[in-house]
Amino acid sequence: MAMTRRSFIKIAGSSAVILAAGAGTFAMTREPTKALEPWSIAGTVETEPRRKALSYAILAPNPHNRQPWMVDLAGDDEIVLYCDPDRRLPITDPFNRQITIGLGCFLELLRMAAAEDGYRADITPFPDGYSDEQLDNRPVARVKLVKAGTPDPLFRHVLERRSNKEPFDLARSVVASDIAAIAQAADPVSGVSAHTAGAGDMVAKLRDLTWRGFLKEMETDDAAMESVHLMRIGKSEIEANPDGIDMGGAMLETLNLFGVLTRETIADRSTTAYQQGLDMYREITGTGMAYVWLITASNTRLDQISAGSAYIRTNLQATAQGVDMHPLSQVLQEYSEMSDLYAETDRLLQTPAGARVQMLARLGYGPQIKPSPRWRAETRIRTA
Ligand SMILES: Cc1cc2nc3c(=O)[nH]c(=O)nc-3n(C[C@H](O)[C@H](O)[C@H](O)COP(=O)(O)O)c2cc1C
Repeated sequence: MAMTRRSFIKIAGSSAVILAAGAGTFAMTREPTKALEPWSIAGTVETEPRRKALSYAILAPNPHNRQPWMVDLAGDDEIVLYCDPDRRLPITDPFNRQITIGLGCFLELLRMAAAEDGYRADITPFPDGYSDEQLDNRPVARVKLVKAGTPDPLFRHVLERRSNKEPFDLARSVVASDIAAIAQAADPVSGVSAHTAGAGDMVAKLRDLTWRGFLKEMETDDAAMESVHLMRIGKSEIEANPDGIDMGGAMLETLNLFGVLTRETIADRSTTAYQQGLDMYREITGTGMAYVWLITASNTRLDQISAGSAYIRTNLQATAQGVDMHPLSQVLQEYSEMSDLYAETDRLLQTPAGARVQMLARLGYGPQIKPSPRWRAETRIRTA
């Protein structure tokens, strides 16, 4: 689940007091500037090649913006990537599949950033093996930087890339050539196939399916609460924990101050806040103008890392085409309450036997949005 501000504005209704409080000087001070700083300083502060590449890699998309990466700068030229075990999502991602995809996105950005700086990143995923059940304390990857490297044209879109969680414009469809270019961006990653739907019945069915997936998550207490606990409402919460589901802006913060929009009201199915959250997501899921999904032939950790590389490439290509992209993962999740919708998704997408749909995202045109918060790169470096 993710929250955006638009529909919550409706909660304020006609309350002049709340609306007034959301305007003026207060509003101008509510941007979580520190939490957004990693986007403006990427590549500008650090000169050491590993730290410089890291300053971009932390901008990778990742589930619930948990930023599960932790690195060790070993020797002179190595980066060892680990998963921070406290940053997994045990309910909605019980086997850490999505967390691993996020780490795959991180590695692809690291590779691109190093190449831009004149280094080839030799990446060995899971050098000490892995468990299919859980990511453990073994490295997710060992990366060695070697002087060489060919720049990747997609790199220039890294700072503009977003996951756009707003409703898309129903009057603007995505042209077939843009959809095809987005899917093709996954081609260099072996073992991942990209599939698309751009019109007609399939788009209608995916809108409906992704909506039902969201509703199922909201109606499954453990799953819904996993998101609720990760909400950061207002500037001070976002600055203190620049991760999770950020709900910033003067209006949401004001609603929070008035007790209308709190973790409690969002979780309570009898409240307006809960209802507005559903309405908001109905609108969001109802405005997918096209879809892209990524399939791997099996579902090993290596497949998940590859799916992450492929996913960020499609997201960067979408940015290049001026198309907004938004993953909708609920129906792909492995907890038992989702199993019927998960099976329905496989039938609809005609997933081959044994294969796995790793990512499903809607495409379209939304309003311009700010980047999402990040922990600063140096906080993700392990010190002995
Ligand atoms: C594996 C994976 C699954 C995701 N699933 C969802 C999702 O179901 N809903 C959603 O709104 N965003 C989803 N996202 C997007 C993240 O929420 C987003 O990447 C994160 O909040 C950081 O924001 P950014 O991509 O704009 O930098 C997913 C991202 C990844 C990598």
